Amino acid sequence: VKLTTVLDSCLFVIFGATGDLAQRKLYPALYNLLIEGRLPENLAIVGTGRRLETREAFINMVDESVASFSRRSEPKFKNQFHRMLHYLQTDFSDSEGFAELASFLAQVEESQQTRGNRVYFLAVAPEQFGPITEQLRANRMVRQSPDTWQRLMIEKPFGRDLDSARALNAQISALFPEESIFRIDHYLGKEMLQNLVAIRFANSLFEPLWNSRFIDNVQISVTEAGGIGTRVRYYETAGALRDMVQNHLLQMLALTAMEPPVDLSAQAIRNEKVKVLQAIKPMTPFEIEANVVRGQYAAGLSGGRVVAGYRDEEGVAPTSTTETFVAMRLFVQNFRWAGVPFYLRTGKRLARRSAEVVIEFKSMPGVLYFASEPRLQPNLLVIKVQPEEGVALQFNAKKMGGTEGIVPVKMEFCQNCEFPHHSPEAYERLIADAIRGDTTLFTRWDEVEHQWRFIDSIVEVWQEASPSFPNYGAGTWGPREADELLRQDGRQWHVSD
Ligand SMILES: NC(=O)c1ccc[n+]([C@@H]2O[C@H](COP(=O)([O-])OP(=O)(O)OC[C@H]3O[C@@H](n4cnc5c(N)ncnc54)[C@H](OP(=O)(O)O)[C@@H]3O)[C@@H](O)[C@H]2O)c1
Repeated sequence: VKLTTVLDSCLFVIFGATGDLAQRKLYPALYNLLIEGRLPENLAIVGTGRRLETREAFINMVDESVASFSRRSEPKFKNQFHRMLHYLQTDFSDSEGFAELASFLAQVEESQQTRGNRVYFLAVAPEQFGPITEQLRANRMVRQSPDTWQRLMIEKPFGRDLDSARALNAQISALFPEESIFRIDHYLGKEMLQNLVAIRFANSLFEPLWNSRFIDNVQISVTEAGGIGTRVRYYETAGALRDMVQNHLLQMLALTAMEPPVDLSAQAIRNEKVKVLQAIKPMTPFEIEANVVRGQYAAGLSGGRVVAGYRDEEGVAPTSTTETFVAMRLFVQNFRWAGVPFYLRTGKRLARRSAEVVIEFKSMPGVLYFASEPRLQPNLLVIKVQPEEGVALQFNAKKMGGTEGIVPVKMEFCQNCEFPHHSPEAYERLIADAIRGDTTLFTRWDEVEHQWRFIDSIVEVWQEASPSFPNYGAGTWGPREADELLRQDGRQWHVSD
């Protein structure tokens, strides 16, 4: 393909090029961007890692990763992709290794004519984020001169509490200005979360109803059927609150609840998102006890087979108090949302994998149909984020035929049902945006700050008492208390079929 000359030529440098994330997400994304002609004309991908020795071995690994994880294969692009790939075996904890990397990058830059522009992608363990940034500084690998740019793409987690996030941010922002920092929350790259904003602001049908006068409650769920997988070491110290709520669920909340931005620029959208995060009503310790539920899975039946409980997973302490489930009720205290509960829920080893935002509209007054059918279903607008991508609208209609009665019916739009591989992966969008210099779908520092402040207030209360874990069976919808949270309010979790 002819690659685009509109985009600046650049080096795309991957720290952790031999790791799991790089193999599952980054190479497939870059390959798909190449197929679609969305990469700059001169792009050189430079991987660094320890376990592979040569460029040939690296190219083989990338080929395998594309074969296993790419949504498209189209082998005719393979050679062109291979030409973009470069590799240096280095240990970045060693300053000599880093100096060697600096001169390797300068060579590739020269031979591939990438003009000094660079994306540094940190696909490494979070404790390496700071030391790598320090080495980038020490080796003068960030110049930010007026005619070249260097950008940082940094994986989650961004800190493990507000203090550590601040320390990390101080370190990276001493080197990169905010507009060159791309803090990844890959949920923001998901098609339907971008679509959520379009659906809200492009439809006179929805926007006028999007407030406390018409909406009864909002439910944001990200449920996983899988267990802990291979991320035990990290997960044991993080848990569901830090791993999922701090970033993905609060970002979904911000997109659902934000005011219309003045324009579609990164700055304007993020200004509105941060206001939502700022407006989350702080909770007293007593309120946290009453509004936040934590859980951990026991053994159970998942996908038709018996699976182990969290404490029996390899690498997990037998007395672990790490939560694998969180549900909460929170309020966004502003004019639009006062009094509307937002229910958030996420967990591992739940009944099904799904991510969705459910808007439940207020019930009709208790006359006409309601007089005889007090259990009429509410109107629901469901934004389905994964695995199905689409929108469903549930409303009430007369039962067909001569019988009396009202039944809920659904109108559904499915974006990925017919062509499951048409929908781009989040990392395709995120990498393309970082190369273009568009920070809209990345988390700005003040958003991270508000997210941690809220999460820290919960962690502080949790630290005071040991939970009685495990408290839900694998393959269920989580602890009873999570259902109780809504039942107290006369509501229930909605689960799409
Ligand atoms: N995997 C996921 O699904 C996922 C999802 C969301 C976020 N993340 C985030 O993405 C980041 C990477 O995760 P991952 O799962 O890909 O980790 P991983 O599989 O453990 O990979 C770590 C990478 O870092 C390299 N590395 C470690 N120490 C090094 C050193 N001293 N010198 C040179 N290279 C070194 C490793 O190279 P060698 O093995 O060759 O030594 C490997 O390529 C983490 O921040 C994680 O939180 C991952």
